[in-house]
Amino acid sequence: MATAEYSVETLVNDMRAVVADTDDDKKIIQQVIPLAQRIAKESGWIQDTFYECDPDQGFGITVLHEEADYTLLVEAIAWLPGRGVAPHDHQTWGVVVGLDGDEVNVNWRREDDGTKVGYADLAVQNEVSVGPGEVIAFLPDDIHSVRNESEKTSLSLHIYGKTLAHIDRSEFDPDAKVQRPCPKRIRKQA
Ligand SMILES: [Fe+2]
Repeated sequence: MATAEYSVETLVNDMRAVVADTDDDKKIIQQVIPLAQRIAKESGWIQDTFYECDPDQGFGITVLHEEADYTLLVEAIAWLPGRGVAPHDHQTWGVVVGLDGDEVNVNWRREDDGTKVGYADLAVQNEVSVGPGEVIAFLPDDIHSVRNESEKTSLSLHIYGKTLAHIDRSEFDPDAKVQRPCPKRIRKQA
């Protein structure tokens, strides 16, 4: 018997049930991870346009769903070979699942107490390679950077508890020990 494909629409419905049930970020993440892994097993919802990247930005974001009240966000992000993004936080919970290719995620640990405006002392905590079906999750203050070290464009699905375009979050330069407002990303609608 054929089973119905798991789609972005069904994913969003399941996510709504999760966040209606609890506002504990860790519990939400635990419940969203299997949903992310489930949709990563399907490919019917993935379109060729998801692979289109902005050459200046180094990656391409396709928004698949934004809740009207700026809560849930689902987006596909493609990463050009050799490109990535500087360390940043999300100021909401996040779950990322690999779809195509491998992406190196660097998790950073903050060594200072955050009281000096514009200053941040970061150290590498660990590096994780995220491939198809593999998941990485973030709490609001977690800091990560991403690199595509492969020779082809990679693709991953990103799920957040808020629409990132509407919240103030930070980008970091670990060499200069600088914390600054995260640049607004270029996003396209599916
Ligand atoms: Fe991120």
